[in-house]
Amino acid sequence: MKLTLENIELDVNYVRSQFPAFKDPICKDWSFFENAGGSYVPNNVIQKLTQFMTSTKVQPYAEYPMSKMAGKNMDIATELFAEMINAKKNEILIGGSTSINLYVLSNALKKMINPGDEVIVTNQDHEANISPWRRLNEIGATIKEWKFNLENQELEIQDLENLITNKTKILAVTHCSNIVGSVNNLKKICEIAHKKNIIVIGDGVSYAPHGFPDVKELDVDFYTFSLYKTYGPHLALLYGKEEILEKLPNQNHEFLNGQYPYTINPGGPNHEELVSLIGIHEYFANLYNHHFNDTETSTLKKISKINHLISKHEENIANPILEYLYNRDDIKLLGKNKIENKNRAPTIAFTSKKITSEAFSKKLILKNIATRNDNFYAWRCLKALNIDTNDGVVRLSLTHYNSKEDVEKLMDALKNI
Ligand SMILES: Cc1ncc(COP(=O)(O)O)c(C=O)c1O
Repeated sequence: MKLTLENIELDVNYVRSQFPAFKDPICKDWSFFENAGGSYVPNNVIQKLTQFMTSTKVQPYAEYPMSKMAGKNMDIATELFAEMINAKKNEILIGGSTSINLYVLSNALKKMINPGDEVIVTNQDHEANISPWRRLNEIGATIKEWKFNLENQELEIQDLENLITNKTKILAVTHCSNIVGSVNNLKKICEIAHKKNIIVIGDGVSYAPHGFPDVKELDVDFYTFSLYKTYGPHLALLYGKEEILEKLPNQNHEFLNGQYPYTINPGGPNHEELVSLIGIHEYFANLYNHHFNDTETSTLKKISKINHLISKHEENIANPILEYLYNRDDIKLLGKNKIENKNRAPTIAFTSKKITSEAFSKKLILKNIATRNDNFYAWRCLKALNIDTNDGVVRLSLTHYNSKEDVEKLMDALKNI
């Protein structure tokens, strides 16, 4: 049979062989279901980090070779990530975390807000994409909340349309909820918002680990995700459209005026971690070459095909869990009970009607299922659902390196609770 994108399957054994954690004495007996918290890293990332720390751990961009190499690799890392998400290299900022990136961005966007302007936030988002925007009320903005439908936990487009007025300036919305798991139609949301010249800030933290986005296709104004959840070190990427970035104030040293995007953050990135991002690109390039025997040269096209492979695999392993939890009378599953056409991430949150989320999660941990209970900082979402924000939900979050064996182990454990 000829291998096509439709019938080719992700080689999970190959994938797992790239992640040393699966052979590590401390991790190897665990099935890891806490990927929405943070993912394992492939060998390539560790190698790049070690190489930088060993050979080029000097101040970059001087003329001696170690320094030249350090600076060059920092530039390459940024350029590769720009290519992977279809951005220009001067539209990418690497910061310490998504929370930091969004606070810094909201501070920069203050310049565009006048008293009486309106800002829309949701109650489905992680707090990182809510609090910084809510604080714009300190300069006179009116904050409006796009509330999700309590029945199905979805953000309804019609409700957004009812909230938008001629005064709306900013809309902050998640591409994918870290609790409900739903993928929101960010492209459509941007289309609606742009008719009123509203700046859209998309939180891609729960989306990107399941396939890097094409930011130009989404036409989103700003987009951010945490690289420590996309197989890298503890950093986060912020994308911004150049035509907006160039208008933002300089929040860095005075003499750097005009040198966006470096002017958004008061300070530079973590050098060694930035360089290790090359390893993420290498990992995905190797994954592509392992599965597709062709001469494709476009990074974007390769990413799109890999995304397809990953989604298919994630759908196959997550759907039995969703179906099982949905059919259990003593469990309340949040969000859709089936993944179809990437309408949902394999991030599965639920509560038990009989025991606390903490007790439930502890029982899973006793069976070597790495999971946890928490509000995962989406506390407005939990509050709206009347879930105790201290006990939270149990969250099982999968990614492409999870195997059928992991799922069988999880199902056995679930059946005994
Ligand atoms: C959906 C979502 N947005 C934002 C964040 C915040 O990311 P960071 O830890 O990089 O600040 C998280 C972290 O878990 C998240 O899940």
